[in-house]
Amino acid sequence: MLTKKVEAAMNDQLQKELQSAYVYLGMSAYCEDQSLPGFAAWLRRQFDEEQQHAFRFYNFIIDRGSRVELKQLDAPPTSYGSPLAVFETALEHERSVTRSINELYDLVAKEKDFASQAWLDWFATEQVEEEKTVGQIVDDLRRIGGSGDGLFFLDKDLASRTPHE
Ligand code: FEO
Repeated sequence: MLTKKVEAAMNDQLQKELQSAYVYLGMSAYCEDQSLPGFAAWLRRQFDEEQQHAFRFYNFIIDRGSRVELKQLDAPPTSYGSPLAVFETALEHERSVTRSINELYDLVAKEKDFASQAWLDWFATEQVEEEKTVGQIVDDLRRIGGSGDGLFFLDKDLASRTPHE
């Protein structure tokens, strides 16, 4: 069973993963509206992936004999200034998730919950990938600047990219 402190922190992280999914869905809706189906598809796959992250927490809390608590989610933006603004926001968001995973890792270490610590290793590594892939798209968008051709080809490219390529 998780300690009360760890149970609360795991439930907080479950909410953050669900909120992340919702944020990516809002970004995807914006890109659909901008006629960028490749960006929208990539962001929707990220929405799916965040839900999988949430379910990892959901299942782990239950597996440890503790209680899942579902919290209110905030409405995410569905409007951005540009595709670059979308991915800069996503990168900042992923960095905040990384900080939150690190704090959770620190807490379970202090609580001597070694099973949770080992289980969280997957997330620590996953966040490296998350920041890297979103950061690469930010770099691509900065490189092409305001080029319509560049945006067109990047949109085609993202249509077939999975979030971890
Ligand atoms: Fe589940 Fe993108 O952090």
